[in-house]
Amino acid sequence: MTSTPPPPAVPDPTPVDPAQVADPQAHADRAASFERDADVYAQVRPSYPREAVEWMLPARPRRVLDLAAGTGKLTEVAAEVAGPGAELVAVDLSPAMLQELSARLPGVTTHRGTAEDVPLADASVDAVLVGQAWHWFDATAAAAEIARVLRPGGALGVAWNDRDADVEWVARFGEILHRGDRLEPAAGNDPLAGLGAAFTAVEAHTVRWTDRVPAGALRVLAGTRSYLLTLPDDERAARLAEVDALVATHPALARRTEIELPYVTHAYRATRR
Ligand SMILES: C[S@@+](CC[C@H](N)C(=O)[O-])C[C@H]1O[C@@H](n2cnc3c(N)ncnc32)[C@H](O)[C@@H]1O
Repeated sequence: MTSTPPPPAVPDPTPVDPAQVADPQAHADRAASFERDADVYAQVRPSYPREAVEWMLPARPRRVLDLAAGTGKLTEVAAEVAGPGAELVAVDLSPAMLQELSARLPGVTTHRGTAEDVPLADASVDAVLVGQAWHWFDATAAAAEIARVLRPGGALGVAWNDRDADVEWVARFGEILHRGDRLEPAAGNDPLAGLGAAFTAVEAHTVRWTDRVPAGALRVLAGTRSYLLTLPDDERAARLAEVDALVATHPALARRTEIELPYVTHAYRATRR
């Protein structure tokens, strides 16, 4: 007889230092919130489907920049797709996220930096990837910097893993996570619409896939969202209690040790002229 392994022991998010109270509706505070609990992010946030990364990357890239790489979820898949001959470079605002990335992917070069001021030379990379982060950038400044570091003919790939809200319990989970969130990116917008004249051939591609997670991981996943990371402690605790109630009572979730969490990955690519 086989037994199902228990969910990983993942901690609740650490309480906010009252001296550094963040504003959940302030763009800069939300973008900076990932500095907190980077190890939990690395444990529970989803990876990216290989199909989407293959679609975004050009053939046989020699040097790939993962911009706003975080703990390296997208970097890892990009390294597999690009192959052993390629150099992977990761840039992120958050030293804590980059520390997690280096622990997991020691072969990747990391630089603390921003999308608006990328610490790389002109025309020095074949591809720039951005996962789950374009909405935190000043898009005009980031597009100019990405155009600067990409070689002519190089590729920009931008992706989001969105939970599939067509599934009823997933929609309820999302409602708990984002109720009152004025910065949640609107679905359906073309994020690369304002890229500018340096880019051409903007295309979109969608991949549906399912992540299998321990039931206990849903509350931890909730705690890694920037909105919850920046809510006051009592409000965050109330939202996490709602997640617990959903997991305990919804017929699709109750008494399950493992849950199938459906995602839709929205990928976009453009070519540097
Ligand atoms: C939701 S995480 C995504 C991380 C990773 N790409 C992934 O897919 O898991 C957003 C990341 O963007 C970073 N970030 C936010 N604003 C940034 C900026 N302006 N420049 C560079 N990184 C930024 C944060 O530190 C965080 O690591």
